[in-house]
Amino acid sequence: MCANKVAVVTGGSSGIGAAAASRLAADGYDIAVLDVNAKGGEETATAIAATGRKARFFACDVADAKAVEAVADAVERDLGPVHVCVTAAGLIPNTESVLDMDMAYHERMWQVNYHGTVHTCQSFARRMIPRQHGAIVTIGSINSRMPLPLPAYNPGKAAVERLTQLLAVELGRHSIRVNSVGPTYVMTPPLRQKVADGQRDMGKIMGVHALPYLPEPKDIADAIAFLASDQARAITGILLPVDSGWLSAVPYRTYAGGVPWEE
Ligand SMILES: NC(=O)c1ccc[n+]([C@@H]2O[C@H](COP(=O)([O-])OP(=O)(O)OC[C@H]3O[C@@H](n4cnc5c(N)ncnc54)[C@H](O)[C@@H]3O)[C@@H](O)[C@H]2O)c1
Repeated sequence: MCANKVAVVTGGSSGIGAAAASRLAADGYDIAVLDVNAKGGEETATAIAATGRKARFFACDVADAKAVEAVADAVERDLGPVHVCVTAAGLIPNTESVLDMDMAYHERMWQVNYHGTVHTCQSFARRMIPRQHGAIVTIGSINSRMPLPLPAYNPGKAAVERLTQLLAVELGRHSIRVNSVGPTYVMTPPLRQKVADGQRDMGKIMGVHALPYLPEPKDIADAIAFLASDQARAITGILLPVDSGWLSAVPYRTYAGGVPWEE
């Protein structure tokens, strides 16, 4: 347990962020949920408060650097010094081609998924530096490692992994660790909606993983909690895939010589 420590979770109103907020609260952190979704954020905070930890929702668009900076002040004023920061706010798009993609949506995707991660890391790392302590966990994806036809999203997740490495080196001398988790498909509201709309095929999704198991939000939250914890005190600058073996299975299953046990 970590009495009087505070964790910030952007995107904590839903999905992976909400699961991370609950898991970190169970580990003893007081929680600040930063999100544009007030209803979900209040629900996450209320559920955590019912377990006996302090939890507060702060309305914040992570694409707005000034707003993130103002909220960082408010979080530390209300809850105290932040020790852990998780950047789970994000948008998940549908398939597009590079030539036909909607450039306004592309711009917004980068503003939220990449620049939002930069803004959050900047504001909270600046406050961790004088204390010479902290852990940041960004949310990458299998998209950080492989090209998928999501041109507004996929390069942004590769950029999040590289940003994580840069920050790990920049902040390492202040004893602040920066790591990323890389989930495969996870059944959160955006994936549920895409399956319902026919934009994602669960048969195909389940068929390519090494394990016959699709990670749940709590599986991603467990990895986040590990990277945030002292058990990971010697780990910085990594992306930890939580992918049921997707990154290994996709090249293996498409080997030109055939897959022996599938023939
Ligand atoms: N679900 C998956 O399959 C999957 C796979 C790999 C990576 N991820 C990543 O995990 C993260 C969380 O995704 P999720 O599946 O939990 O989705 P989600 O929609 O359930 O949660 C995302 C949260 O981010 C918030 N958000 C969106 N724009 C924001 C903004 N401008 N400022 C603040 N908050 C904002 C939303 O309101 C929402 O609460 C994203 O970065 C996503 O790319 C998800």
